[in-house]
Amino acid sequence: MSTPQRGKLVVGNWKMNGSAAANATLLAALIAGWRARPDRDVALCVPYPYLAQARDALGGSPIAWGAQDVSEYASGAYTGQVSAAMLAEFGCRYVLVGHSERRHGCGETDAIVAAKAAAALGAGLTPVVCVGETLAERDAGQWQEAVTRQVDAVVQRLGADCARTVLAYEPVWAIGTGRTATPQQAQDVHAHLRLRLRGAAAAGVPILYGGSVKAANAGALFAQADVDGGLVGGASLDAAEFLAIAGA
Ligand code: PGA
Repeated sequence: MSTPQRGKLVVGNWKMNGSAAANATLLAALIAGWRARPDRDVALCVPYPYLAQARDALGGSPIAWGAQDVSEYASGAYTGQVSAAMLAEFGCRYVLVGHSERRHGCGETDAIVAAKAAAALGAGLTPVVCVGETLAERDAGQWQEAVTRQVDAVVQRLGADCARTVLAYEPVWAIGTGRTATPQQAQDVHAHLRLRLRGAAAAGVPILYGGSVKAANAGALFAQADVDGGLVGGASLDAAEFLAIAGA
């Protein structure tokens, strides 16, 4: 059953895509096509070099913006890293932390992800904490252990501050593969995550689903009681598709 009293949040994750020219076209189409709705929040997480462009284009619009990663450290000798305070200076509202492409491609541990979420909160940003099992874990019937370990690390580190985060369930096997979790599979995991969050009095945090979300499947996913929106990769690069998902 859907919960119409709770709005949906739809976050686009551009990943490492775009160019100044292509972004300008995409941002203009999104601004022209999106009208503010009380039951919807929309945001775009863009590559660092385009944060100023996103700020300049989206400032004053109903679309928020953010980044795709943040350092766990405040400042210092961390070549190549970007602090939460720097992101705040560019008007970011959100930052993704613990995306599977960083957990699995860049060796980010549960502890690092939790530290990044804490750093984001410390600068007034909302971390979108990504969790999700691999195909091997799903096939072995171990999704519950995998996502529990990931979410518990964040709950342990943040405690009651968990209530100020957003969680995103992204099964690794569904990211960029065209293979989406069924609405029921998503609901089962989301309900489990909400139970884990209850311990930190954070059962009300939005829990987004991510992994091959498209206009064609967004409505069925968002209709699930514990699916509070979506984290959208590939489809967020297509204005018409992303607008249709945001309105689903
Ligand atoms: P996808 O990516 O929508 O292209 O599957 C989602 C994500 O990785 O956030």
